[in-house]
Amino acid sequence: GKSGYDHFMIKEIHEQPRALRQCLRERVDEMAGTVDLDDLGDLSPTGVHFVACGTSYHAALYGAQLFREAGIPAQAFLASEYATSVPPIGDALVVGVTQSGETADTLSALRAAQKRGARTLVVTNVVGSTAARECDHAFYIRAGPEIGVAASKTFSSQLAALNLLTLGMTRSDEAREVINALRELPGDLQRILDESRAEEVAETYTGAGAYFFIGRGLQFPVALEGALKMKEITYKHAEGFAAGELKHGPLALVTSETPVFAVIIGDDEKARKTVGNVKEVEARDAPVVAITDGQTDVHRYADHVLEIPETHERAAAVLANAHLQLLSYHVAAKLGRNIDKPRNLAKSVTVE
Ligand code: F6R
Repeated sequence: GKSGYDHFMIKEIHEQPRALRQCLRERVDEMAGTVDLDDLGDLSPTGVHFVACGTSYHAALYGAQLFREAGIPAQAFLASEYATSVPPIGDALVVGVTQSGETADTLSALRAAQKRGARTLVVTNVVGSTAARECDHAFYIRAGPEIGVAASKTFSSQLAALNLLTLGMTRSDEAREVINALRELPGDLQRILDESRAEEVAETYTGAGAYFFIGRGLQFPVALEGALKMKEITYKHAEGFAAGELKHGPLALVTSETPVFAVIIGDDEKARKTVGNVKEVEARDAPVVAITDGQTDVHRYADHVLEIPETHERAAAVLANAHLQLLSYHVAAKLGRNIDKPRNLAKSVTVE
């Protein structure tokens, strides 16, 4: 049941701290600062192709970035496109990211890779799913069953799982720092769920004509996911952009009727450039909502701030996403949408 919540989606949003603890349990050696992937055997990939759809594709974009940061060539592909035109695989490991393990497009991409002799691994939530049975290796995110059609806790758990995979398969000077951030993540997330002002922001912008989301680097997939969630459950127009792309076209859409949600973490060059993009939209009278740890001066240009604590940018992505989940949920609730079963959508898409 919904355990007193109005919808499965909000119940599942609130289950995230527990889901994350499950994902990390017995895999992380905090003393040694290492991740144990023993059940996967020795996978030292020289390259990685991620294949996935929808929300899982956003997780894949994040995962590919983690591998690249560790010096391993990695790229995320939309599964439907990968199967249509399979890129040269060489000896890359092909990683499917699929909550259900049953998505037809993702299965096709994995099968196309296998046909070319590639090793395959699936990051999935469902033990015994088709992808888990067909791939050479399976890594379980252990999020528990997700009933709401819109993916919520499984996305957070995919991000955590992809951190574990990268840490387990590569050497990184940052490993200990990332492990510490992952360990803090369930508690930080709980505080966001308890204290987020996303409902207030949702109330302010329920009547907006469109919603835009921007982010750079690891926060770019968060922007894409924020927009996808908004589309799915509110039926309103929403788009996610790489912050730097805004001025290459989409800026023409920005008006006082289109709130822009900017994810800005840390105070490095990426963050400062995104603040620059925020100034561009503010100059066009767009309302700005900053999802930020407050290390830049973005609050000077923002109408609202959804705060997250200072942590590693990898963990910050999960925290920023939680605010955006709540935002979409509350907009959808105010509009009276069928949140757990949005029109035209199915939980598991078994046709190509
Ligand atoms: C979005 C959503 C879909 C799925 C996509 C892939 O909320 O649920 O975009 O993420 O259909 O599903 P899986 O992960 O089961 O392959």
